[in-house]
Amino acid sequence: MSEATSYYGHHIFFCLNKRENGEACCADHNAQAAFDRCKSQVKARGLAGPGKVRVNKAGCLDRCQGGPIAVVYPEGVWYTYVDQNDIDEIVESHLQNGKVVERLLTPPHLGR
Ligand code: FES
Repeated sequence: MSEATSYYGHHIFFCLNKRENGEACCADHNAQAAFDRCKSQVKARGLAGPGKVRVNKAGCLDRCQGGPIAVVYPEGVWYTYVDQNDIDEIVESHLQNGKVVERLLTPPHLGR
């Protein structure tokens, strides 16, 4: 049995992928602004750091149909957000209080 513990309590990745060929991509849905908002909210709430929360950029997570996409580990919960209010809710409910935001879950069948 592994003794390893998770370095971060929650780790959220935002797809920031940009496609130039016209195909769907998260960058076309304000992914960068959402990432920036998440980072600033996590910091403002004192949630950033080891044992707490880490916010990271990611490339394509291969679920572009559900974009814009963010995924939270260790639970592996996938979110499709729309605006800044959605990001604030993910931060407060999930990252701060451990409660999944059901209304923002990416539909399970949506892939690339
Ligand atoms: S472009 Fe964001 S999941 Fe593929």
